[in-house]
Amino acid sequence: MYRTEKISEVKEHVRKWKREGKTIGLVPTMGYLHEGHGSLIKRAREENDIVIVSDFVNPIQFGPKEDLATYPRDFEADCALCESIGADLIFHPEPEEMYAPDFCSHVGVETLSEHLCGARRPVHFNGVCTVVTKLFMISEADRAYFGQKDAQQLAIVRRMVRDLNYNIEIVGCPIVREEDGLAKSSRNTYMSPMERKAAVVLHKALSRAEEEVRQGEKDANKIRRIISDIIEEEPLAKIDYVEVVDWNELQPIERIDGPVLVAIAVFIGKVRLIDNFIVE
Ligand code: PAJ
Repeated sequence: MYRTEKISEVKEHVRKWKREGKTIGLVPTMGYLHEGHGSLIKRAREENDIVIVSDFVNPIQFGPKEDLATYPRDFEADCALCESIGADLIFHPEPEEMYAPDFCSHVGVETLSEHLCGARRPVHFNGVCTVVTKLFMISEADRAYFGQKDAQQLAIVRRMVRDLNYNIEIVGCPIVREEDGLAKSSRNTYMSPMERKAAVVLHKALSRAEEEVRQGEKDANKIRRIISDIIEEEPLAKIDYVEVVDWNELQPIERIDGPVLVAIAVFIGKVRLIDNFIVE
């Protein structure tokens, strides 16, 4: 497996692979890889001749009060995981390699960024769209893999690719969970053992709500209430949002009568966790 920090070196490899007629799958990550990331890399491995993983904590998608400085990192462990799955190249640039001092171009997606995490993290999705665009251009990938764990991100990237005619296929992958149901996340390591136990409340509340939706409940407020009631019973949990939106435009709805995304963000102590389910 190749490791590089340089855009020019990635491009050199890509030129060679393209000349050989190989297909390229890209898995964008911020590192500290776990089985959730692993599932994306495996899927990319199955569907492409070449697999590129990017490992970059993207500064421009963090707000000033967020956890950029403390975001967990372990590049050697990341390399070991990528190698074990059979990735061909891991791209691990420094921020200066990605952003020139006079960098001033950004990509943004409107409507879909208005609610959910977009409403609480104002610069976040523009930062994501911008870095993902750069990674698509650098890797010239045929396919890119994103987890449903970050459902709003997946929807926004898909819309960007459609609206702006990027030559890439976006592949959405299911959420990978711990045994007790907590969605795997690099941020789970921030929690104390007590907080970690309390964190199962997210999955507990969503499972209960999903059952109701699948049994035909149409009242979105009732679904919001079911979730809030369960989370509020957990003393270590504080709700950031509980939202029911249509799974096309990500706008809040009153009645469920099409594809729906039910998404939550909850603070467990200082750690902000997100989770969701989609009913197509
Ligand atoms: P990161 O949080 O590292 O996640 C990288 C990819 O892994 C995302 O597509 C995310 O949805 C997926 N992922 C994370 N946890 C998962 C889980 N438990 N199950 C399935 N997939 C999971 O998302 C980002 O990085 C960044 O915003 C990025 C797209 C790399 C742009 O900087």
